[in-house]
Amino acid sequence: MGLVAISFVAMGMYIRIADLKDYIGKQARIAGWLYHGRSAGKLLFLLVRDGSGICQCVVEKGKVHDDLFAQLDHLGQESCLEVTGLVRQEPRSPGGYELAVTGARIIAKAEGYPITPKPHGIDFLMRNRHLHLRSRIPWCIARIRHTVVDAIRRFFNDRGFTLVDTPIITTIAGEEVGSLFRLDYFGQPVALTQTGQLYLEAAAASLGRVYCFGPTFRAEKSKTRRHLTEFWMAEPEVAFINLSGLIELAEDLVCAIVERVLEDNHPELETIGADIEALARVSKPFYRLTYTQVADLLTSSKTQQFMQDQLQVLVARRSEITSRIAELEAVLAGSSKQWQRDKAAAELIELRSELADLELRIENNPKHAQLAAQFQWGKDLGGSDETIVSQMFDKPVFVTHYPRQAKAFYMRQDRSDPKVVENFDLLAPNGFGEIIGGSMREEDYELLAARMDQEGLKQEDYWWYLDLRRYGSFPHGGFGLGLERTVAWITGQRHVRQCIAFPRIMDKLYL
Ligand code: 4AD
Ligand code: MG
Repeated sequence: MGLVAISFVAMGMYIRIADLKDYIGKQARIAGWLYHGRSAGKLLFLLVRDGSGICQCVVEKGKVHDDLFAQLDHLGQESCLEVTGLVRQEPRSPGGYELAVTGARIIAKAEGYPITPKPHGIDFLMRNRHLHLRSRIPWCIARIRHTVVDAIRRFFNDRGFTLVDTPIITTIAGEEVGSLFRLDYFGQPVALTQTGQLYLEAAAASLGRVYCFGPTFRAEKSKTRRHLTEFWMAEPEVAFINLSGLIELAEDLVCAIVERVLEDNHPELETIGADIEALARVSKPFYRLTYTQVADLLTSSKTQQFMQDQLQVLVARRSEITSRIAELEAVLAGSSKQWQRDKAAAELIELRSELADLELRIENNPKHAQLAAQFQWGKDLGGSDETIVSQMFDKPVFVTHYPRQAKAFYMRQDRSDPKVVENFDLLAPNGFGEIIGGSMREEDYELLAARMDQEGLKQEDYWWYLDLRRYGSFPHGGFGLGLERTVAWITGQRHVRQCIAFPRIMDKLYL
């Protein structure tokens, strides 16, 4: 494992694998890590990754020194190396180009790398997340997340929004008091921010259109696939807008994000098996339903029928998978060829995880159908209700005008129907559920103060927030888009933990 002469490597000394296309027929030197090595007699096929892509490097016996050939032949996965060679077009190489190797230097050897090409369970991978990040799927997701972040920033910057970084240490709750991570700030009780919104409202009175984009924290005791305790949120806040303007802004934002990912990350989407056709269908207008319409839909016979049909599909898929698993188990037990057993093992782990997921969905189906049938006007939509609604539509759905008592204190009361607020949630399709929550803000001092009293929030704690209603109160609203949930939807990951480099979830803090 010795470290062999790592000197300071100037940028530009190596060609990025992604740029090899500009060097066809020329010599190039790359540096990276050995992703996979395979020998075929006088030839070695080394897959080297450098962060920008993967390149097949072909080493021919006799073309390099025998000692080097032997060393490369036994080089462990994830060893760090430098490779020089002639760039050739090769459709069978992962990036479309390969190097005919003329020289190589091992920078640092790796032995016994824990994440092998063999299948591993998600728990093992998460415990090795610091290494797992080097694997194909986390790499693809990281690239897509990067595009989403960039698309969000560009979207707001191009529309006259000013970025305002709101504090992470806060003195007041923006969402449910019960989910605050509390801290002691030199004797003063404070908390980690749940949202930048309240501070952003103050900034909107200075700059008109503002946004923040940072980490937010919720001590939610939810072990669901949708909940992180630390997640990133992009929040715009706009002066002199109304609810329909706000909804259009959210619609344009989501379209801009999806468009950019389709443009910039097609290969990554393909590698992870995202539903590219469904993403291409994401276009304006999205569906718009009121909460009351959703409540009626959930309790309708249409929903019960939908749930029964879905159950049939799930059961059919279960029997398909079960028989395929039996076939693969036979291969695993019977085949004499190692590569056949490896291939079967890899497929098995995927199918077993799909099966576990299916079992859960089959078990939950009648429970969720019952919850939907018993849904009562006045409650917030539950996770299963959101899933059902978002499965019934092939494009994102806006749900607006929730009951006042189900939502946060700052949401503006609808003057034409005081039982509801001027708010919306955006549900992503295919069962992904809520990715955005937003509303107009109550600008009337008396109404806001009364609502805070009802919620047991002390007015003196919110003195500066109330000041905004004292000095030139203005119609305004905004929303928050959850980054990991958006990335999970776009990449087709069922669980949000895959969509952030180092996830923080309730029951497990891996590293
Ligand atoms: O609906 P939420 O709670 O809204 C707010 O925080 C508002 N103050 C935003 C605003 O109006 N400026 O959260 C907004 C979004 C959700 O739709 C969801 O995508 C994400 O943040 N989110 C979470 N993502 C992962 N884990 C959690 N525990 C999340 N809680 C909310
Ligand atoms: Mg919400």
